[in-house]
Amino acid sequence: MPTVPDPLFAACPDRRGTGSEKWDRYAGRDVLPMWVADMDFQVPAEVLEAIGHRVDHGVFGYTHEPPGFATTVTAHLERRHGWLVDPARILATPGVVTGLALTARLLSAPEDEILTFTPVYPPFLTLPGLAGRRCIRVPLAHSPEAWRIDWDALERAASPRSKLFWLCHPHNPTGTVFHRAELLRLADFTIRRGLTVVSDEIWSDLLLDEDHDGQRHIPFASLDHPAAARAVTLVAPSKTYNLAGLGCAAAIIPEPDMRRRWRIAGGGLVPMVNPLGYAAAEAAWTHGDPWRMRLITVLRHHRTLVQETVAAIPELSCVPAEATYLTWIDCRGTGVNDAQAACEAAGLGPSDGREFGTPGFIRINTACPTDRLVEALRRLKQAFAPT
Ligand SMILES: Cc1ncc(COP(=O)(O)O)c(C=O)c1O
Repeated sequence: MPTVPDPLFAACPDRRGTGSEKWDRYAGRDVLPMWVADMDFQVPAEVLEAIGHRVDHGVFGYTHEPPGFATTVTAHLERRHGWLVDPARILATPGVVTGLALTARLLSAPEDEILTFTPVYPPFLTLPGLAGRRCIRVPLAHSPEAWRIDWDALERAASPRSKLFWLCHPHNPTGTVFHRAELLRLADFTIRRGLTVVSDEIWSDLLLDEDHDGQRHIPFASLDHPAAARAVTLVAPSKTYNLAGLGCAAAIIPEPDMRRRWRIAGGGLVPMVNPLGYAAAEAAWTHGDPWRMRLITVLRHHRTLVQETVAAIPELSCVPAEATYLTWIDCRGTGVNDAQAACEAAGLGPSDGREFGTPGFIRINTACPTDRLVEALRRLKQAFAPT
């Protein structure tokens, strides 16, 4: 196993001019884009090869799940998370966000409430409203060591109109990995209040301490609990293997009737997953693990670099992420009114905490070559502790 610096992650082709959402935001300005969650790394060679083979085939007609897709997903879930899933429960979907939007429409009625922990990935806050449902924010409890569930806040938040709980597990932006005891208590709560859990597990293959302290991702639906038996799970290879632009994810839906209704609800609205997305997803989930392990070594190193920088600026604080390549930084101690603007003025483009429901925070994406991260951290210092 190569140590850091790992040549595989030392450089990235120039993404400018490729329609990159991340790089276009600050086009023409000297601002390092450290916001949206994709990585400035090339995908594993095995994935490029699989895409190449599919391109060589040369025919790209209407495509539904290829024969091996469902078993590729279930083999991956069993190998990585010890979760045995019936392949009949797997439905391909072009995105996890699409899947969330469908669950709002299929599992709740207009004006019903969807609960979620905040701060959170922005679509969790906006999608309910777009579907005519109400988003109920349940703030996580924040201490210098951790972001964890505030059980009193959760009890207070639920009402008879609450129908769904959208769980982001592991949690974006805080990087929290929920423990078994927490998941079981949440499961009890949802059964007591009549809620269905939809668990977005897109980050579940990026736990940073798995090989060091044995922390594991526990799929919510793998719990031995009635709430798990009816939960919907959303997974994708896109965060782990940098495939967001190829649009391939999977929903794990336990009830046959819900699967039938899911297909109907998407008809004419949700496009089919494209053939290159399938090829890439299958290759990533089947062959990507050695690459993933090397990536995690780099991300652990990057987490340390961020922590060192934040520790050197007393007005900033940050709970080290247990998962993801994201860093959620509390800037409220700086007294700066607009942390995002201060960063951008110093040449750094993070995500703005306001979009996650928590002003005064910024989120930095550390998945880029180390020298770029070092420069970004220099600019962070420049923004809040100029010398
Ligand atoms: C928690 C979470 N869910 C979903 C997504 C996006 O998923 P997709 O691109 O498959 O819609 C992201 C992207 O950052 C995410 O962080």
